[in-house]
Amino acid sequence: MSQWQPDSWRQKPILQQPTYHDQKHLNDVEQKLKSYPPLVFAAETRQLFKELGQVADGKGFLLQGGDCAESFDEFNAPKIRDTFKVILQMAIVLTFAGRCPVTKVARMAGQYAKPRSGDFETIGDVSLPSYRGDIINCFEFTEAARLPDPQRMLDAYHQSASTLNLLRAFAQGGLADLHQVNRWNMAFVENNPLKERYQDVARRIQDSLEFMNVMGINTSNTPTLHETSLYTSHEALLLNYEQALTRVDTLTDKWYNCSAHMLWIGERTRQLDHAHIEFFRGIHNPIGVKVGPTMQGDELIRLIDALNPENTSGRLTLITRMGADNLEQNLPALLRRVKQEGRNVVWSSDPMHGNTFKASSGYKTRNFDAILREIQQFFAAHKAEGTHAGGIHLEMTGQHVTECTGGAYEIGDDDLAQAYKTQCDPRLNADQVLEMAFLVADHLKVS
Ligand code: PEP
Ligand code: CO
Repeated sequence: MSQWQPDSWRQKPILQQPTYHDQKHLNDVEQKLKSYPPLVFAAETRQLFKELGQVADGKGFLLQGGDCAESFDEFNAPKIRDTFKVILQMAIVLTFAGRCPVTKVARMAGQYAKPRSGDFETIGDVSLPSYRGDIINCFEFTEAARLPDPQRMLDAYHQSASTLNLLRAFAQGGLADLHQVNRWNMAFVENNPLKERYQDVARRIQDSLEFMNVMGINTSNTPTLHETSLYTSHEALLLNYEQALTRVDTLTDKWYNCSAHMLWIGERTRQLDHAHIEFFRGIHNPIGVKVGPTMQGDELIRLIDALNPENTSGRLTLITRMGADNLEQNLPALLRRVKQEGRNVVWSSDPMHGNTFKASSGYKTRNFDAILREIQQFFAAHKAEGTHAGGIHLEMTGQHVTECTGGAYEIGDDDLAQAYKTQCDPRLNADQVLEMAFLVADHLKVS
């Protein structure tokens, strides 16, 4: 195989990229980004790598979630805080009710580039280049807005830095204190149909904290009661940006992509001889790759070997997104094959991207029951094959949006218009996420 360099991907075919018209502007932006500080520190990504190694070995669970696409316009502290809270709540339910250590990875602080099913979007008789995420162009449907602008990479960098700064403050500055979390659990569920169940978990956590306190275990001597760790991740689609943030770690002399702790390759850009595989094979972060319903066993083994030739546990997460109607047909054979060949991977379920459809109201949506069905089938397939159902990957928000139908509040097609805010795919709202957490915890306990 040829020598890897941060820019060796440029020699390969590449899909889902913008066409920038001003090369000089693009180069200037890339040079500037190269001189900027990294967003994460390589040692942090090694800690995540270690935790994912435990998950691959069946001793933990990966919870990954956040927006489909972060937005420059909806960039504010309450939004970041609410998503942080809901990820934490979900993790607590999974840890406590599922009795399983949970590694939390946010789709935040860099999730700005989107693959699209078509290069153009047509409204009436006007066709314009598709919206590709705020790091590339603007959602507004005008010719000027849809023109890719390199400057947006710098904006994405700065917004990622601010988001990360706030997430770090929340994680370590007291918002994640278990005593507090318990309290905001209570307020949060006030009107939720599952209130009693939440309150039961909250009471049991409270009892445990009181017991530990009596035994001398408290926030002043046990930081884990007061702090948490939340890692960041995004789809590393726009390789100009990702390359500029890829740096040699001075402690190990290895290359790390310092734009996030974990990066993944999307379903549409995982061709073996293409640029994204080339770029990913040389960075030492833990990485993910989406695995959709067309994936065959041979191809999957080749993909695993290209990305994790040393077969290290924790390096590679396979994020399956089959669709509830395809999973039973497709996943078991892949689980069997990977197990047979002795490859160490984390298996995680993205129950969102295979279950998207257009509602009669015209909105792109997903149904809670289909999402849940894919998760249930994911657990069942792993149980049958003797492999570890290692995680879930959700598009979700802490806000009370109405983008996915169903759930305890029974959001219907007609309700979607009330608070449909996503710029890309429909997300589970805070209530739906918590409900999902309890249902997944039930599976974790028995698996
Ligand atoms: C995504 O995770 O937002 C996404 C585009 O997924 P996929 O690559 O699986 O379609
Ligand atoms: Co999406």
